[in-house]
Amino acid sequence: MSARRDLLRFITCGSVDDGKSTLIGRLLHECGLIFEDTYAALSRDSRRHGTTGGEIDFALLLDGLEAERQQGITIDVAYRYFATPRRSFIVADTPGHEQYTRNMATGASTASLAIILVDASKGLLPQSKRHSLICSLLGIRNIVLAVNKLDLVAFDRLQFDRIAQEYREFSGSLGFREILPIPLSARLGDNVTSPSQNTPWYQGPSLLQHLEEVEVLSDHAAKPFRFPVQWVNRPDASFRGFSGTVASGRIAAGQDIRLAGSGRAAQVQRIVTADGDLPEAIAGQAVTLTLGDEIDIARGDMLVASEAPPEIADQIAADILWMGAEPMLPGRDYLLRISQEWTQARITSLRHGIDVNTGNHIAARTLQMNDLGLCHLVTLKPIAFDSYGENRATGGFILVDRFTHETVAAGMIRHALRRASNIHIANFTIDRAARAERNGQRPMLLWFTGLSGSGKSTIANLVEQALFSAGRHCYSLDGDNLRHGLNRDLGFTAADRVENIRRAGEVAKLMMDAGLIVLASFISPFRADRQMLRELIGAQDFLEIHVDAPIETCMARDPKGLYAKAKAGLIPNFTGLGSPYEPPETPDILLNTGEASAEDCAGRVLAALRQRGIAC
Ligand code: ADX
Repeated sequence: MSARRDLLRFITCGSVDDGKSTLIGRLLHECGLIFEDTYAALSRDSRRHGTTGGEIDFALLLDGLEAERQQGITIDVAYRYFATPRRSFIVADTPGHEQYTRNMATGASTASLAIILVDASKGLLPQSKRHSLICSLLGIRNIVLAVNKLDLVAFDRLQFDRIAQEYREFSGSLGFREILPIPLSARLGDNVTSPSQNTPWYQGPSLLQHLEEVEVLSDHAAKPFRFPVQWVNRPDASFRGFSGTVASGRIAAGQDIRLAGSGRAAQVQRIVTADGDLPEAIAGQAVTLTLGDEIDIARGDMLVASEAPPEIADQIAADILWMGAEPMLPGRDYLLRISQEWTQARITSLRHGIDVNTGNHIAARTLQMNDLGLCHLVTLKPIAFDSYGENRATGGFILVDRFTHETVAAGMIRHALRRASNIHIANFTIDRAARAERNGQRPMLLWFTGLSGSGKSTIANLVEQALFSAGRHCYSLDGDNLRHGLNRDLGFTAADRVENIRRAGEVAKLMMDAGLIVLASFISPFRADRQMLRELIGAQDFLEIHVDAPIETCMARDPKGLYAKAKAGLIPNFTGLGSPYEPPETPDILLNTGEASAEDCAGRVLAALRQRGIAC
């Protein structure tokens, strides 16, 4: 436990220009942590790539990648471990440029202190503010304002005071618990590990002394008990334990706990580890808990302090830092991972973007890589969480792309949205089944997807006529038509197309509830959105019909003259030209209108409907 208390994780924020790598290199060197052979290599490299005119360039030690050396920038996150007799340290060294915001956030998410580096000759820059904002969002409460390169301003006290004052004013709303400004010259070593002769007016500690002494509340241990169950350990009928890592707080044998979801109470019997039972476990320890009471617990559930349970909700507001190469699109479904739990989630709206340089709210409809915004999300299953401000261990989550399995976002939960639980579903006696029976048919959604001019509406029209003649009750929803009314506010950006399809799907679902067979013709170019429809409607009632024709054929037909306009550059994001079409991989029906006539294609759809028990 004492070893645990003595570990400080911190992050350095700034760029090579601010002297960040030099500072870490100097720290390691003065702690005697640079080996002789490294030192020799370093002086060789300093002559070749260095910016210090032959002196040892400590920055080169840190910029590990050859490519970075050539460009003079730092990329990716490097974690370095070092120790002094008084404390151990893990420092996350992350790049400072705006395009690497996501890397910085990764480093900040586990740190309890941040060193914000400022070049004394330049003063506070937008990037100093950006780094502070991200640190604040990610829950860092202790700041060292490292006013570096003081030698360049002749160790001017007034300049130092001015920067410190300006920083305090700017950061007033960021919720930092402690801000310590230190006057430094990383290159010359002033106040890095020992007090400098050049700053007699500075009475505070050197940087290293402060890092060794600073009190950072061991955040996680002081919070309420949270134990996400990683797996249910059941080697034989006589033993049943729940394994995982204590995310926050502490637990002792004999203590009462609860299951977050169901609220069922139980008592902890034993705390089992490979080295025998423990009387108590604290945040960070991996253990197996056995309970005195038989309760139903599965992987992903969370055991929690009875007196301080987490929130449970399926609608949340969260700050989202977008990391994916593809932009975030409201309406899209992603996988969400929080604690040990996975569920599906959708960003229902982007309330506003956040300017990472100023913290100001900005209007935004999507988030690009490295953008930040406040979003509302809905999850398929309710999740157990604390607000990120309260508990970083249980308030942070990631979003994962459902198809590429890439991590596309980091999220920090602000609070649950109460609204959903205040809106109930009204149940009417006359339901879909009653209406379907009255109509003597099974409601279905026939979804026609394909390029503009592929023949979707033509075939849907023929199918509908046949259904109508056979006495079926049906209705056609058409992209062009909806865009004159319900979807009049939508254009053809990716974000608008997602919303277009979402609305069309919801309308189709209502019509199915009304007992109708619905024929929908939309380009619907994105696979993810058609998958969303399949899940919304239910696979058994959803027929995905790919109306396929080579784009050359569609262009030659050009029924609305739009391809001609698009080719002339008048419609920049026209599907198939400036905007992609992702063909279905396994459509229920594939129609090739380049080869078969519209009548033949309609015939195939009708045959498929008959197969599914629809008389037509
Ligand atoms: S979707 O992509 O969002 O599914 P939707 O089916 O509603 O599109 O509308 C497509 C129709 O809008 C096309 O048939 C065409 O007539 C018209 N249109 C106008 N601009 C575009 C564009 N940039 N891309 C595709 N279709 C467009």
